[in-house]
Amino acid sequence: QPSNFQMGESSGLSRENCRAKGGAPGFKVAILGAAGGIGQPLAMLMKMNPLVSVLHLYDVVNTPGVTSDISHMDTGAVVRGFLGQQQLEDALTGMDLVIIPAGVPRKPGMTRDDLFNINAGIVKTLCEGIAKCCPNAIVNLISNPVNSTVPIAAEVFKKAGTFDPKRLLGVTMLDVVRANTFVAEVLGLDPREVDVPVVGGHAGVTILPLLSQVKPPCSFTPEEIDYLTARIQNGGTEVVEAKAGAGSATLSMAYAAVKFADTCLRGLRGDAGVIQCAYVFSQVTELPFFASKVRLGRTGAEEIYPLGPLNEYERAGLEKAKKELASSIQKGISFIRK
Ligand code: NAD
Ligand code: LMR
Repeated sequence: QPSNFQMGESSGLSRENCRAKGGAPGFKVAILGAAGGIGQPLAMLMKMNPLVSVLHLYDVVNTPGVTSDISHMDTGAVVRGFLGQQQLEDALTGMDLVIIPAGVPRKPGMTRDDLFNINAGIVKTLCEGIAKCCPNAIVNLISNPVNSTVPIAAEVFKKAGTFDPKRLLGVTMLDVVRANTFVAEVLGLDPREVDVPVVGGHAGVTILPLLSQVKPPCSFTPEEIDYLTARIQNGGTEVVEAKAGAGSATLSMAYAAVKFADTCLRGLRGDAGVIQCAYVFSQVTELPFFASKVRLGRTGAEEIYPLGPLNEYERAGLEKAKKELASSIQKGISFIRK
C-alpha cells in the first residue's frame, strides 16, 4: 500500500468547500478504525448521512480499498482515506466529530475488560492526535472496554489541556437499541415506538435498563423484568457467542453508532430537544463517569439528566453497577497517570 496514500477525489479536479455536494451545510466527520467490522458499515452509513459534508476514513490497514469503494456512492459527502500513524494528523485536522471504533473485539469466553491491554494504548494514541489536531471536535468513543476507555480519553485530554467534558461521549447506544428491540418484542409493539433508558455503563451488570421508565408507559411481570434485564445486559455476549470467534456486534453497532452520531450532529446544528443516553463525565452519581440521558447541543452534551425515580429492583442494580464501574474507571485513570 502506498505510504502517502490519500484518496477519495480521484481526478484531483473536484472543487471543494465545507458544504456537502448538494449545497447543504454539513459537518466534517472522521472515523478511526474505519476498515474494521464496525468501521466499514459505519463509513457506509455516514456517507449516506445528509448532515455530513466531509468523511475521513482512518485505519492502520485497508483504508485504500474501503475509501475507493465508499467514495463511489452518489451521496453528498466527500470521502478521503488515511492509512497509518503518519497520516493520523491529516485525518483529524478540521474535524467536527470523531468516531472511534478502533481496537480488538472479544472472542467467546472473554470479558470486555480482557481487551483493556490492547485497546487502552490504541485509544490513548488516537486521543493524543485529537488533542493536537482537532481539540474542539466531539468524540464518540466505541472501543471497549468503554467503561475504562472514556476515562483514558479524559485523562489524555486533561494532560493536553484540552479536556471539555461536554465533548467526550462514550457510545452506549447499542444497549438502548437492544433494549428497545427486546422490550418491544415482549410488549408486542413496533420497536420504533419504544424508548428504554439504559444507564450506568457498557459491560455486564453496569448496563442498567430502567424498565420502570419505558415509554410508552407499561408494566412488566417480575419474570419479564428478570428476562429483559439479563438479555439486555448480555446482548453483546449473545452476539460474540453466535459469531463463535469471528468477532462481536458490528452491523447493529454500526447502526447504533450512526444513530448516535446523527444525534450529535443534530445537536451541533442547533436542533432543540435532542436527547440520547451516553456515558459521560457526570455528577449524576458519586462516580466521575456514568451513562444517563443527555441533551446534545452546539457544544456537545450540554445537559445531563438525573436518573429519575428508580424502583427497588433498579436501586439494587444501581449499587452493583456502581461497584464495578468504580474499578473500571480507576483502571482507566491509572493507565494514564501511572
Ligand atoms: P475489528 O477488529 O473488526 O476492527 C477494528 C479496526 O481497528 C481494524 O480495522 C483495525 O485495523 C483498527 N485498528 C487497530 N488499531 C488501530 C489504530 N491504532 N488506529 C486505527 N485503527 C486501528 O473490530 P470491531 O468489531 O470493529 O470492534 C472494534 C471495537 O469496538 C472493539 O473494541 C469492540 O469491542 C468495540 N465495540 C463496542 C461496542 C459498543 O457498544 N461500544 C459495540 C461493539 C463493538
Ligand atoms: C457489544 O455490546 O456488542 C459490544 O460491547 C461488543 C462486545 O464485546 O460485546
